[in-house]
Amino acid sequence: MKIAFVGKGGSGKTTLSSLFIRQLAAQGAPVVAVDADINQHLGVALGLDEEQAGALPAMGAHLPLIKEYLRGSNPRITSADTMIKTTPPGEGSRLLRVAEDNPVYDACARTVLLDGGENGEIRLMATGPFTESDLGVACYHSKVGAVELCLNHLVDGQDEYVVVDMTAGSDSFASGMFTRFDMTFLVVEPTRKGVSVYRQYTEYARDFGVALKVVGNKIQGQDDIDFLRAEVGDDLLVTVGQSDWVRAMEKGRPRGLAALEPENQRALTALRAAADGSYARRDWERYTRQMVHFHLKNAESWGNAKTGADLAAQVDPGFVLGENAEHTGNADRISSPLPA
Ligand SMILES: Nc1ncnc2c1ncn2[C@@H]1O[C@H](COP(=O)(O)OP(=O)(O)OP(=O)(O)O)[C@@H](O)[C@H]1O
Ligand SMILES: [Mg+2]
Repeated sequence: MKIAFVGKGGSGKTTLSSLFIRQLAAQGAPVVAVDADINQHLGVALGLDEEQAGALPAMGAHLPLIKEYLRGSNPRITSADTMIKTTPPGEGSRLLRVAEDNPVYDACARTVLLDGGENGEIRLMATGPFTESDLGVACYHSKVGAVELCLNHLVDGQDEYVVVDMTAGSDSFASGMFTRFDMTFLVVEPTRKGVSVYRQYTEYARDFGVALKVVGNKIQGQDDIDFLRAEVGDDLLVTVGQSDWVRAMEKGRPRGLAALEPENQRALTALRAAADGSYARRDWERYTRQMVHFHLKNAESWGNAKTGADLAAQVDPGFVLGENAEHTGNADRISSPLPA
């Protein structure tokens, strides 16, 4: 399953995604964690020291390798140079699985032991730090674009998780990134600003059937809960208060996951239940159709001009990404073309 934590800067995306990842890992689930946040802090939140976190490979720097690998022998994609972030897989493409070894993980992922391995391990990938000049321009897109390419080539099952920590910026709407998840957790503080990010996000998400739940964070009392309930209604899934466990972590005095406050453990359990519950709505045809939709949109608005090719021709009309897809890239095929 694919799960995103989004929200405005400082709302607690990294903190809550790291806790969620820790709980999944402690329960023995295979997890790939992806740091796609502007401030790259997920590694440290998962217990790496600054030096280890700084040494994480940047997906953005391995984009040529990622493209070359995923392209495989897909005849519709004539070279890695014509692959843009939205280029969809087709017959001959190589697909990714959560629990496997492949050249993309070799180049971009590192194994992180949680609580010294006592509470499981995960694979961590990071887009790489964003610089001032990245924001709002093409490079930023290419960094997050590496994640989008991987998600579009990923065949994930019910009990394995890809968790992405990302900013709720308009960049994820220009691409199809915000439609790539089985569940999106929107981290919202009980403030007008927090709620306005929620409104913007749901406006985009509504038309695409995006499953979204609000996680209230930094909640200080009933008044905060009432405020969020009034503003977001039933979209409010759980609330999380100030956590001493998180504070201890920030002081460099981490405690094992078992020491996390019981109410926060329960909140994490509710997150997993909501994510797991969304699996019933998994629809590979819709997933494929949406990636094609955003690819055609991006091809027309900038991709064709940038690559000098007609990128609409990259779409394999008979291809549907799916769980029975072969690892070698012979994915499911359906007999009739996808509806537009
Ligand atoms: N529930 C919590 N209890 C205690 N501290 C918290 C909690 N949630 C967030 N924090 C603290 O608030 C700060 C911001 O949190 P975090 O880094 O997770 O937010 P973010 O949304 O990822 O921010 P950014 O946009 O900078 O990446 C951190 O110092 C974090 O430790
Ligand atoms: Mg963050």
